[in-house]
Amino acid sequence: MAKLAAKGGEALLEGKTIGQAWPIYDETDRQALIRVLESGKWCSVVYGEQAESEVGRFEVEFARYQGCKYGCGVTNGTTAIEVALRAGGIKPGDEVIVPAASFIATAMAVSTLGAVPVFVDIDPETYTLAPAALADAVTPRTRAVIPVHLGGYPADMDRIIALAHEHELVVIEDCAHVHGTIWDGHKFPVADMGTFSFQLGKTLTAGEGGMVLTDSEELAAKLHSLSSHGRMRGRPTYEHRLVGSNLRMTEFQGALLLAQFARLDEQIKHRDANAIYLAAGLGEIPGLRALRRDKCLTQWGFYHWNFKFIPEAWEGITRDQFLEAARAEGLAMGAGVHVSPMYANPMYTEEDTPYRKQDCANCEYASQYESLSLSHPNFLGPRDDMDLILAACQKIWDNRSELRDR
Ligand SMILES: Cc1ncc(COP(=O)(O)O)c(C=O)c1O
Repeated sequence: MAKLAAKGGEALLEGKTIGQAWPIYDETDRQALIRVLESGKWCSVVYGEQAESEVGRFEVEFARYQGCKYGCGVTNGTTAIEVALRAGGIKPGDEVIVPAASFIATAMAVSTLGAVPVFVDIDPETYTLAPAALADAVTPRTRAVIPVHLGGYPADMDRIIALAHEHELVVIEDCAHVHGTIWDGHKFPVADMGTFSFQLGKTLTAGEGGMVLTDSEELAAKLHSLSSHGRMRGRPTYEHRLVGSNLRMTEFQGALLLAQFARLDEQIKHRDANAIYLAAGLGEIPGLRALRRDKCLTQWGFYHWNFKFIPEAWEGITRDQFLEAARAEGLAMGAGVHVSPMYANPMYTEEDTPYRKQDCANCEYASQYESLSLSHPNFLGPRDDMDLILAACQKIWDNRSELRDR
């Protein structure tokens, strides 16, 4: 009689739930939305001053939380990258270096502008852009780099910024996963600009939404203008100075984000404490391990928590067989590293959508054979939930021979 659920045994998590359902909301969120509804002021343009609108207040609060001076709220995390590229002066035909491991939006924003994404490899331990790969990819046409803090684990910004300065590149950090992460006493971005997503799955959400953060007053003014028909803050509504689109966040999003924001820090701390416990427990299972956590990473505000399957330990059993077995036991587990479909999918031909790619062996290996991840709501429950996750992993390890039997 098989023990593993994948082979007909009983699922270890049958009838149990791990973490909390996402999104989380209560009366505060409901009242925030009603406040906007009843005000009739659903669009931030009706407000002259930033501090008067919901979006403006959220921009100020979120920028302060992330340790930045200015925030510009936009429709989503993809348009945040697009407008940041425009504010950074990126033009059609310019090359922009991106890591091969990311959601497609990072590269697609570059292509939308008519610029050329150049895919480079990742560090095999942290799954973030490898600085050496960046150095190798620079050409006279390179204008920018977009490191992604994948899963909320920080990219090596010291080395990336040093290289970017050497080659006069604009640095835009894709911060879609890194809300609240603290590295060596600071949050992100640390470079010219950082772009956030508040899409439904993210750790801070209004269903959709995005923001660009920067310390530069000049860039902030440009970002606001480019995302609101070329208007300038504090100037008359029908004065247009730049060619810009309408990428404004609605007042409903601003109000909901303010309400959600009140829970963010506590949720991040709760998840991280559970993740530290889980990482220690995984150390007892030979075929799995947590990412090596640098001592500078004092708070990991992850979106999905990446960890590793160790193929050699499983002697022929693959990561995908493990994933199937984990899901059968009731664990909502995935692969945390995906090669950007623009890099891998023949639909995006180099002719129609120009791009370049370097050798990305680490990224291909991690995405096919090694990477595992659990999304952030799994970590919002009690410590016992971590014990259940560990018990399910241990069960698969102990009964792995069943996965070999056809
Ligand atoms: C790394 C990364 N960048 C950008 C985005 C785009 O954000 P949005 O869905 O808000 O456009 C996402 C969304 O999942 C993402 O994961």
